[in-house]
Amino acid sequence: MFTSNEISVKEQLAGKRILITGSTGFLGKVVIEKIIREISDVEKIILLIRGNDRYAAARERFDHEIAASTIFNRLKDADPAYFRQFCTDKIECVTGEVTEKNFGLSGEAFTLLAGRADVVIHAAACVEFRDQLQRALRINTLSSLNIADLIKAAGNIPLVHVSTCYAHGFNKGDCYEEVVVPTSKAFQRNAKGFYDVRPLIAKLQKKINDVQKNCSRSDQLASSLVELGIKESHRYGWNDTYTFTKWLGEQMTMEALQDSTLTIVRPAIIESTYQEPTPGWVESVKVADAIILAYAREKTPFFPARVEGVIDIIPADLVANSLILAAAEALAMPGKHRIYQCSTGSSNPLMIGRMKHLLQSEANRNVGAYDRLFPKGKPKRDFRIIDRRLFVIAMSALKGVVTIYDGICKFTGMINRIRKVTDFVNTTMKLAVTFSFYASPKCLFHNDKLMDLASRMTPADRSAFPVDAGIIEWELYMGPIHLSGLNRYALKDRKTARDQAEKTIRVPSVVNIPVVDGSLERGTV
Ligand SMILES: NC(=O)c1ccc[n+]([C@@H]2O[C@H](COP(=O)([O-])OP(=O)(O)OC[C@H]3O[C@@H](n4cnc5c(N)ncnc54)[C@H](OP(=O)(O)O)[C@@H]3O)[C@@H](O)[C@H]2O)c1
Repeated sequence: MFTSNEISVKEQLAGKRILITGSTGFLGKVVIEKIIREISDVEKIILLIRGNDRYAAARERFDHEIAASTIFNRLKDADPAYFRQFCTDKIECVTGEVTEKNFGLSGEAFTLLAGRADVVIHAAACVEFRDQLQRALRINTLSSLNIADLIKAAGNIPLVHVSTCYAHGFNKGDCYEEVVVPTSKAFQRNAKGFYDVRPLIAKLQKKINDVQKNCSRSDQLASSLVELGIKESHRYGWNDTYTFTKWLGEQMTMEALQDSTLTIVRPAIIESTYQEPTPGWVESVKVADAIILAYAREKTPFFPARVEGVIDIIPADLVANSLILAAAEALAMPGKHRIYQCSTGSSNPLMIGRMKHLLQSEANRNVGAYDRLFPKGKPKRDFRIIDRRLFVIAMSALKGVVTIYDGICKFTGMINRIRKVTDFVNTTMKLAVTFSFYASPKCLFHNDKLMDLASRMTPADRSAFPVDAGIIEWELYMGPIHLSGLNRYALKDRKTARDQAEKTIRVPSVVNIPVVDGSLERGTV
């Protein structure tokens, strides 16, 4: 029994057709799994998937890259017939590119698709912090217009738009579930209260064109476009191209869908699942893991961070549940714009120093249980967190010495006897450039509105779709759960990984992480 003003997820989503973008990704899979397992009455899950080098059709990608994922093991073990039947009857795959007008479909096919959806969860994004500016803009910002076209063609159905807490950019202190006011004064709100970001996007596009015109070498062009993204992000108040373009995407979506039902859900750093479908499920090496891996593989013994800073990590299952609750609410109570943050910082904070302590203690206690993570056994040295300023001074000095020595070796043909030091300097610098902003946090993300949403669900749904970060026992999560998840799901044994790295297929926009040598390019928040 539930009271009349409570929302029932299962009731709202029964008989509905949920269109999802980004389903080949980490979060998308967790959402699909949960819907299949908990909401058997859903009418359809429609997946908009682009073709890639290996599989041209969406259905092929679903079969090989989604349904084959270990995330479905629980379902397959419990009831293989149900899983198979669900995939056949209720999963519809549409081959389309979200960055293209009408997703690259004919007008007729686009209208038909719109007519088949009741609610959309838009999770597709390029999550590389330092992508080329034009690529990040296309997927993280401009694709919002194509999604908005679909929403309107479907008769203003609700949209759940996945963003990131780090859209708050260089803001400091308390960051609430509200429209982010940028730290730069360059932005004006229009008469309706929306930030008019189109002139800025036009400016950025002109800068992109200039770089493209003036650079003839393709490797230089790529790095110039990465640098342009970082420069412009810093200029306007964000740490990197990813978070800058995600903020722009929020503004574009809000303006384009000003009369529609829109819920923006901003997760913080998403890491392995806490409970469901199995504790520790994770797909690849994520933000914090890049640092864990560097320590485990003894690539670097220290990292610049703020020991007392709150690192806002949220397990993927809590995020997936939040998206499902948001979709149910939007269907039950349409006609509003809402913003939710899936975060732990304000309700169950984890300090960076404590996280390091928990991970390292677990590694010290049980290193043998994590053979892929610690292939050489327990690292010889402790992992140290050092002050960012001290780090910059020390690394600049070391890099100077190493660069000169390396140059002399190359020039004279001498053997580089400090190759290990050179590798260490390069890995540490690379990690620091990409991640140190997230490891020296100055903001605290609040999630009161999300908690309020959960409180309006039926008691059964509150327990079936938990979103409360308060349930996380960090000692358990940042110890056995996450380390075994990383060891089991994210890391392949070294031989398989080497074989795979040789055969790696590069999917556009995604940098694969060759975990064997610990190149640590990709981070996601
Ligand atoms: N992971 C985190 O820590 C984190 C934190 C906060 C917010 N988020 C947000 O959560 C959402 C999902 O992230 P995730 O971690 O699941 O990312 P992910 O694993 O990298 O998956 C990204 C998804 O987006 C699709 N995509 C990327 N570029 C595309 C393009 N140009 N055109 C069409 N599709 C494209 C990918 O499809 P392909 O397989 O075809 O490339 C994939 O399905 C994103 O909106 C992200 O911003 C993530």
